[in-house]
Amino acid sequence: MIKVGIIGCGKITERASLPNLVNYNDKCEVVCLCDVIKKRAENLAGKFGLEKVDIIENWKNLVTRKDIDVVFVNTPNYLHEKMAIGAANNKKHILVEKPITISLKAVNNMIKAVEKAGVFLMVEQTQRFDPIHQAAKKVISSGVLGKIHNIKGRIGHAGPEYWSQGKSGWYYEKKKSGGGCMVDIGVHIADLIRWFKDKKVVELFATIQTLEKKLPVDDNATVLLRFEDGTKGEFECSWTTRPYEVLTYVYGQKGKMTTSIGSARPAVLTLVKTGVGEDPNCAFKEENLEIGSGGGWDNAIHYFIDCIQKNQKPFVSAHEGKETLKLIVAAYESNKRGKWVKIN
Ligand SMILES: NC(=O)c1ccc[n+]([C@@H]2O[C@H](COP(=O)([O-])OP(=O)(O)OC[C@H]3O[C@@H](n4cnc5c(N)ncnc54)[C@H](O)[C@@H]3O)[C@@H](O)[C@H]2O)c1
Repeated sequence: MIKVGIIGCGKITERASLPNLVNYNDKCEVVCLCDVIKKRAENLAGKFGLEKVDIIENWKNLVTRKDIDVVFVNTPNYLHEKMAIGAANNKKHILVEKPITISLKAVNNMIKAVEKAGVFLMVEQTQRFDPIHQAAKKVISSGVLGKIHNIKGRIGHAGPEYWSQGKSGWYYEKKKSGGGCMVDIGVHIADLIRWFKDKKVVELFATIQTLEKKLPVDDNATVLLRFEDGTKGEFECSWTTRPYEVLTYVYGQKGKMTTSIGSARPAVLTLVKTGVGEDPNCAFKEENLEIGSGGGWDNAIHYFIDCIQKNQKPFVSAHEGKETLKLIVAAYESNKRGKWVKIN
């Protein structure tokens, strides 16, 4: 039985972590909940019927417990670094919410601590675990589209005020969040495009704006990418999109694939005939991809628990988190300078 402690009892713990740990209770048990606002932890313990769970306010007393194998870091972004390092120093495996953290210095500190301790850290990049995106990744890896010249993605919702209902002002404080929609959800789509393409991004150009909200952080952004193989990509994120959407477009020599969370046709593959004399606009075959079960949150959490049980390194490692964070940091830099920015 994997014993779990959770730091931060806000929205993501309520919506994703606890439901998907409680429904996996043949493999894991939540033994401790921590929040600086104790009432939040108590409310969630009540809601999820966790009668025996310990409720504490100081996260340091959670990471040092002997009866915990894994720590979920579900706090505002600027706290991820010190909490993950604290957990690693006490030999706990870690599931840290996205973004892994908010600076490259911080991510390097986290990697050092995790490697020194010999523990696993997975970043909860949940878009990779959505069965629509898992089906799409299989198609891309199969090579059926031929050489892929362009991958584009877009993620948008109405903004964190509709998620946390005004309780979580930290999303709009740059020091605590690291930035606006670019950090909050740009990190989801940047990570997904990077995973789909499986090539390094060598250069990017970004335009980042606050179009609608009266906020000190961004609410819309567009980023152009150049990959190491010379092909291109693009991602867009928005806090002014209603209703929620996640879209991807993959263009190859032999056709295209589109995905759309929430659509009646969530993933469509279109292949054309490319022989001499063939008309690619007529001679094509269109198919709806078969989509597996579950959603991004449940699949990610169950996968992480399975990895810990099998002593297997999760594939969304701290290094993966760092590669994605590099794009976010470079995008802000590009927007500031009005230029393409190289990525090491
Ligand atoms: N993977 C996803 O799809 C997804 C979706 C939403 C949010 N998130 C991420 O989850 C994390 C939390 O977001 P949220 O929306 O749940 O925020 P939230 O504000 O609803 O919850 C954060 C909680 O942390 C608590 N907290 C703050 N400082 C603390 C401390 N020092 N010790 C213990 N608890 C402390 C707060 O009191 C609050 O209850 C963020 O990193 C966010 O980016 C991920």
